[in-house]
Amino acid sequence: MSFAQYTGRKSLEAIAASAEGHGKGLTKTLGPFSLIGLGIGCIIGAGIFVLTGKAAANYAGPAISLSFVLSGIACAFVGLCYAELAAMIPASGSAYTYAYATVGEIFAWIIGWDLILEYGMGAATVAVGWSGYFASLLNSFGIHIPAQWAEATGEAVKLADGSPGTAIFNLPAVAIVLILTALLMLGTKESTRVNNIMVAFKLFVVGVVIVVGAFYVHRANWTPFIPENTGTFGSFGWSGILRGSSVVFFAYIGFDAVSTAAQEAKSPQRDMPIGILGSLIICTILYVLMALVMTGMIPYAKLGVADPVAVAIDVTGIGWLSVLVKFAALAGLTTVIFVLLFGQARILFSIAQDRLLPGFFSAVHPRFRTPFASQALIGVIVALIAASFPIGLLGEMVSIGTLFAFLLVCLAVIHLRRHSPRTTRPFKTPGVPWVPILGIAFSLLLMFGLPLATWLRLLVWLVLGLVIYFGYGHRHTLLPAAPAE
Ligand code: ALA
Repeated sequence: MSFAQYTGRKSLEAIAASAEGHGKGLTKTLGPFSLIGLGIGCIIGAGIFVLTGKAAANYAGPAISLSFVLSGIACAFVGLCYAELAAMIPASGSAYTYAYATVGEIFAWIIGWDLILEYGMGAATVAVGWSGYFASLLNSFGIHIPAQWAEATGEAVKLADGSPGTAIFNLPAVAIVLILTALLMLGTKESTRVNNIMVAFKLFVVGVVIVVGAFYVHRANWTPFIPENTGTFGSFGWSGILRGSSVVFFAYIGFDAVSTAAQEAKSPQRDMPIGILGSLIICTILYVLMALVMTGMIPYAKLGVADPVAVAIDVTGIGWLSVLVKFAALAGLTTVIFVLLFGQARILFSIAQDRLLPGFFSAVHPRFRTPFASQALIGVIVALIAASFPIGLLGEMVSIGTLFAFLLVCLAVIHLRRHSPRTTRPFKTPGVPWVPILGIAFSLLLMFGLPLATWLRLLVWLVLGLVIYFGYGHRHTLLPAAPAE
C-alpha cells in the first residue's frame, strides 16, 4: 500500500481527447472582450452589492477599500497561475481537471469537492443577496414581503406589527434558485449576447453610483479611516482589514470561470490570460472606488444591511437612481447565480465522467441535452441552503473553500513545472516559483483572516469529502494507480 495509489494522473493527451469530444460543435467565437465580459459577468455580484456593506459595518470601516486591494492582489497571483493551467489544459472541469492532470487524483477530488463550495454554496450566497434587493425593490413600490419569509430560518426579525419574531425561511432566495434551475434543465443557454447586455447594464450602474456618489462624499465619514480595534481580532484596526479582506474576497470569485470557456475562445493562448487578468483588474478598480464612495456617503455602521448600495445612494435623494440600482443589482446577481449553477453541474459532470461520483451526475437528458436530473438535485440542495442560512455565514464558507482550492492550483503550477518541464505552455506564469508561492501565501493569509468556526466547518467538509472519496470514488476510478515515484 502506498500513497501512489491515490495520485494516479489523467494524461494530458486523454484530457485533450475528451476535450475535443466535448468541444465538438462548440464554435470558437470568444475574443478578448467577450472573455473579459464573461469574467466580469460572474465576478460582480453579491460581494460588492451586499458583503461590502456588512464587512465595512462589522470589520473594517472605511478601510474596507484597503481590504479590496489586498484580496485583489491575492487574486492576481492566483489568476496568473490559473492562466497557465487554463491555456495548457483547455478542458472543462476547471481546477479539478488541472489537478487531475498534474498532482493526481486525490488532490483533484479535494479541489473538486472545494469547487462545490465555490459554485453550489456560492450560488446560495448570491441568491440570499438577490432576496435582499428583491425585498428592497418591492418596498420602493409599497409592497412589503413579511420579514419572516425573507430571512434565514431562525433569524430574529421584526414582524409587520413591529413585534419581534423568528424567520421561517428565505422564500425569494428559494424562488430565484428554482426558476434558474428550471431554465438550465431545459437547456436555455445564456447566450454571450444576453450576458454582454447584462454586464453592460451592471457596469453602467456601478459607474453611475461611483460618479454620482462621489459628489455626496463627506470626508467626516472617512475619519478615522481605520477605526480603532475593539480588542477582538478582526473587529476593526489592521486585523479588521484582514478579516474584511477575507470576506470581500467573495467579490472576486468567478474570474476562474473564464478558464472554463477555453474551448470556445478564438485564441485561448493569448486571450485566456487577457480575459482572466483583464476582468480582475477592472473589478479591483471598480470595487475600491465603490467602497470608497459608499463609506464616504454614509457612516459605515449603517451599511450592514441587505441592500447597502441602495441605502448609500438614498442620501442623494434621487429616487429613480435608487430604483435603478436595485434593478441592476437584481439583474447582475441573476447572471451570477445562473453561471454558478451552470458551472456546478458541469464540474460534477466532469467528476462523474471520471467515475469519482455516480453516473447520475453525468447523465444527459435525451431531449434537452442537459444534465437534467443532476441540475435538478443541485437546484433543490442550493435552494434549501439559501432558504436557511444567513449570507455572512455562507459567504465565509465559500471564501475559505475557494481559497483552499486556489492554494492547491498554485501548488499544481510549481509541481508541474518541475515534473513536466517540456510540456507546451502557451502562457507561462511569470516569476515561477515566486508568483505561485505568493499566491499560496496570500491565500493562506486570507484564510487566517476568517473565524475559527469557519475553519472548523471547512474541516468537516473536507473530512466528509475524503469519506466519499475512499468509500466511493477511489473504488470506481477509471485510472490505474500511478507508479510510485
Ligand atoms: N463574485 C461573485 C459575487 O460577488 C460570486 O457575487
